[in-house]
Amino acid sequence: MSRVRLRALVDEDIPVLDGWARDTARRSEFADFGLPPLSHADLLARVAGDPRTGFLVVEEAGRVAGSVSWQAVAYGPNPQSRAWNIGIELDRDFHGRGVGTTAQRLLADMLFATTDAGRVEASTDVENLAEQRALEKAGFRREGVLRGAQWRGGRWHDLVGYARVRAD
Ligand SMILES: CC(C)(COP(=O)(O)OP(=O)(O)OC[C@H]1O[C@@H](n2cnc3c(N)ncnc32)[C@H](O)[C@@H]1OP(=O)(O)O)[C@@H](O)C(=O)NCCC(=O)NCCS
Repeated sequence: MSRVRLRALVDEDIPVLDGWARDTARRSEFADFGLPPLSHADLLARVAGDPRTGFLVVEEAGRVAGSVSWQAVAYGPNPQSRAWNIGIELDRDFHGRGVGTTAQRLLADMLFATTDAGRVEASTDVENLAEQRALEKAGFRREGVLRGAQWRGGRWHDLVGYARVRAD
């Protein structure tokens, strides 16, 4: 059985996740948007009962390793054209151990199993090779470059778009 699982955020997680969010030295350059640190209590309140977004804690062997989130992206006005865009952030201590691969595979599996969406997508900086590799290992297919899509560190960054579709 995999040692990685996704589960709902509980109150006890909030100091851990808020602590990581405040610790700029631990933050990956790819997750640093120059915004004030995220309050996970606020986030919990925001996503509760909102079907267009979600957030789960990633656990490895019973320890909090990070989080995954998703939000609806509309590719047309009908419900069938709603896709999910996912994101992930793991604490540094958990990088490079296969956790990101498994967590993103589990999240895509869950979204296909629990919603009617035909597409789960993710994008990442063209320089974020670890995330590109993790997405590929999780069954996502590279689709192309989204030029100048993200502002971080004082400049626009190109992203690589990936997706898994229901038929994959
Ligand atoms: C990106 C992230 C989710 C990946 O999760 P992870 O658990 O570290 O990744 P995994 O261990 O599952 O897989 C990483 C793969 O990338 C490879 N890799 C890591 N660094 C690499 C690099 N600099 N160049 C090339 N490949 C690299 C690893 O070797 C591994 O591939 P392998 O199993 O074939 O050897 C995680 O590192 C993270 O949270 N980073 C900070 C936040 C972030 O970048 N989030 C995504 C923003 S879009």
